[in-house]
Amino acid sequence: MASPYAILEVSESADAEEIRTAYRSRIKRAHPDRGGSIEQFVLVKEAYEEAMHALESPEHSPADITYRATQTTVGYTVSYLDYAVVQREGWAVDDPQNFSRAEGLDLPPSEFGAFAVGHRESVLEAAERHGFSWPYSCRGGACANCAILIVEGAVDMNVNTVLTQPMRERGIRLSCIGEPVTEHIAIVFDIGSLPGLSELRLPAQQANPAE
Ligand code: FES
Repeated sequence: MASPYAILEVSESADAEEIRTAYRSRIKRAHPDRGGSIEQFVLVKEAYEEAMHALESPEHSPADITYRATQTTVGYTVSYLDYAVVQREGWAVDDPQNFSRAEGLDLPPSEFGAFAVGHRESVLEAAERHGFSWPYSCRGGACANCAILIVEGAVDMNVNTVLTQPMRERGIRLSCIGEPVTEHIAIVFDIGSLPGLSELRLPAQQANPAE
């Protein structure tokens, strides 16, 4: 697996400005609409985060950073969209076209984007690893605070939960215990206010940052 520096096409001694410039160039080429793919897009995004993290944490050597990138870029990719955007735009929550519509809205990363999920990692854990603070409460399948709607792909939950069979058939899963089982998934997150789910919510442990 290439190091973050190789992915960004900069030297290991690059400073923050050089890394930022390289990232802007690479992320454009990696975008699915410009000849890249979601996998490339996520890889470049993670490489940028790793390289910037290395600058802020000089105790980590480039070898450490390379190792951590290897661990995190293997697995699955998630395209995510905040339910707040769906409500704001008046879209149907389960319409797969929402993701291409969102491309044209210039939304912040807290509302729309993509990240990687490692093997044996839940969608919520991966979101938190990428710096997001999605809603949750019990983290054990006993509430609906962390509910997500699967619009594309599949997510498995290995324990029984509070979700009813019709909810599961609709594509609703719990991000705290849900792990992708297809290479790519597209999800709407923070759907806990949907009818039927709101009654299953517990006092929140963490609010959606919407930053
Ligand atoms: Fe309660 Fe996920 S936080 S089921």
